[in-house]
Amino acid sequence: MSQPTFRTPKGTNDILPEDHQYHTYIKKAVRHRCRQAGFKRIDTPMFEKTDIFERGIGEHTDIVEKELFMVGSHHSEEGMEEFALRPEFTASICRSFIEHGMKQLPQPVELYSIGPCFRHDRPQKGRYRQFHQFDLEVIGLSDPSLDAQLIHVCNKIFADLRIRDQLSMQLNNVGTSENRKAYVQALKDYFIGKERNLPELDRKRLETNPLRLLDSKEEDTQILIKNAPTLDQFIDDDSKQYHETVKEYLDELGAQYEENNQLVRGLDYYNQTVFEYWDLETGGKNAVGGGGRYDPLIEMLGGEPTPGVGFAGGMERIIYQMKQAGVQAPNKDQIDVFVAQLGPSAKKKCLGVISQLRDLGVHTLGALGEASLKSQMRLADKFGAKYTLLLGQMEVKAGTIILRDMAAGKQKEIKFDKAVPEIVKLIGKENLDTYVLRDQFQDQDED
Ligand code: HAM
Repeated sequence: MSQPTFRTPKGTNDILPEDHQYHTYIKKAVRHRCRQAGFKRIDTPMFEKTDIFERGIGEHTDIVEKELFMVGSHHSEEGMEEFALRPEFTASICRSFIEHGMKQLPQPVELYSIGPCFRHDRPQKGRYRQFHQFDLEVIGLSDPSLDAQLIHVCNKIFADLRIRDQLSMQLNNVGTSENRKAYVQALKDYFIGKERNLPELDRKRLETNPLRLLDSKEEDTQILIKNAPTLDQFIDDDSKQYHETVKEYLDELGAQYEENNQLVRGLDYYNQTVFEYWDLETGGKNAVGGGGRYDPLIEMLGGEPTPGVGFAGGMERIIYQMKQAGVQAPNKDQIDVFVAQLGPSAKKKCLGVISQLRDLGVHTLGALGEASLKSQMRLADKFGAKYTLLLGQMEVKAGTIILRDMAAGKQKEIKFDKAVPEIVKLIGKENLDTYVLRDQFQDQDED
């Protein structure tokens, strides 16, 4: 086969039908658990003013400094740097909360979103430039019970997807912004006189965002960090108490966690609770999801001070976990009936049968071409059809049709008018893929 002229851009993937089944399955689990817990769905634009991400996530974080996809247009007056594709949902959802005066709504406001995010990262396994997140945000109140309940909902989603057992939930409390400021100062002081032992990149980080030295991959930095002050020494008593209460509530809910006082997370907006779901084997390298409390964020974006807590799961990494665990996403794309025909009048006649079967909820393919009945049968087999209806010129004249059970390899001639009810009977009413308008309204957030 010759090489295709065009391929997906680096770090992006086509979601082929096989994987869509997993995406759909995850979305269903998320929607179900979110609705049970009172969340409502929100969609924000895929791009926003770059400023929102700089202020929210932090100007000197990896995401903003290195990974933002800038978008612009030759047709607009705005500069190329003015907009960026969203690298996550939280900042956008908070922007929307402010813009639409959601502070007037009963608090907390619980919102969830599902969709693509973009980070211009160096692509590697589990790390893509376009990936998908589901995101849950609880905005308006600060209470350990909300942190614990949010974590519990996430646990339920992972349990529904049958991967909770292969994940560990890492939990920490990063204190208040003041605690972090004091800690950052202590880190800076610690490194006075040691800067020249740091690799160049980390020397820069020491100035811009010293917390990032903590998860530096550089060996020299790691050696120095071992004796550096740790964040837990700077956490105030209220935060410690907050953390204890979160854990108490998690225990009450029977939620498993592992305390990890090294966990800081790569976004600037967090305070108090932070948590991540790790693969038991690979640990923090490719976290399956993460979140935490972000009480300062809405004010940073220009709103009234309003606390929040949230979480985002990475769908590609979750799908990987599901496949590792041998979890099959239900496949609803099977073909029930293939309608083979020969001759113009048969072809015309079978169009109505195909349409009726589809309306009744039978997955039907047919009237595809002019090939012989034999090769259409082979095609039916390749499509995995359970039944084939065959309509040739003779059957048209006789007012009949041949019904073939593909697995049993048996066939019989029946009256043409009986074809549809007969197939429905064979498939079974409970297996028909039907929906009524009521369901359609309930499921309008299907995407
Ligand atoms: P995050 O830890 O940056 O948090 O991302 C959440 C999850 O998205 C990660 O754990 C990972 O599964 C997935 N993810 C991130 N980057 C990539 C990538 N390049 N390729 C594939 N998957 C990726 C947030 O985004 C926060 N907004 C979470 C949050 C919500 N905090 C409060 N509310």
